[in-house]
Amino acid sequence: MSDTLRDAALAVRENAHAPYSQFKVGAAIRTASGTVYRGCNVENVAYPEGTCAEAGAIAAMCAAGDREVVEVYVVAGSPTPVPPCGGCRQKLAEFGAGDVPVTLATVDGAEQRTTVAALLPGAFDAGHMA
Ligand code: THU
Repeated sequence: MSDTLRDAALAVRENAHAPYSQFKVGAAIRTASGTVYRGCNVENVAYPEGTCAEAGAIAAMCAAGDREVVEVYVVAGSPTPVPPCGGCRQKLAEFGAGDVPVTLATVDGAEQRTTVAALLPGAFDAGHMA
């Protein structure tokens, strides 16, 4: 795991808009092109309209015309490494192969390494629509 991805996730976490939960999250995604995309959670007074850090990073990636995720890092000020929500697991599976490494982390430096496939066993994918 490169320090670069952690640094990117920590930096973008500072920009999180989390006035309701006070829970700031940062996500950094590296793609096959070597580019790193960042996202933070953006909450809304209409709570369901809030978006997760992972979703923001994926949106930035797609907006840049990039698609192939090869590494993911997510960090929060949680007591244990932050687990992505169900929706974000599905979003990561859309762009990352099952063996793509995902590091879940705390601001304090604890890390848990997993993969896209391990985060979403039994994933629904395009094959189910064949
Ligand atoms: N959140 C994320 O951004 N990513 C995660 O992996 C877990 C949860 C955000 C959503 C909301 O703004 C706040 O954390 C509390 O749920």
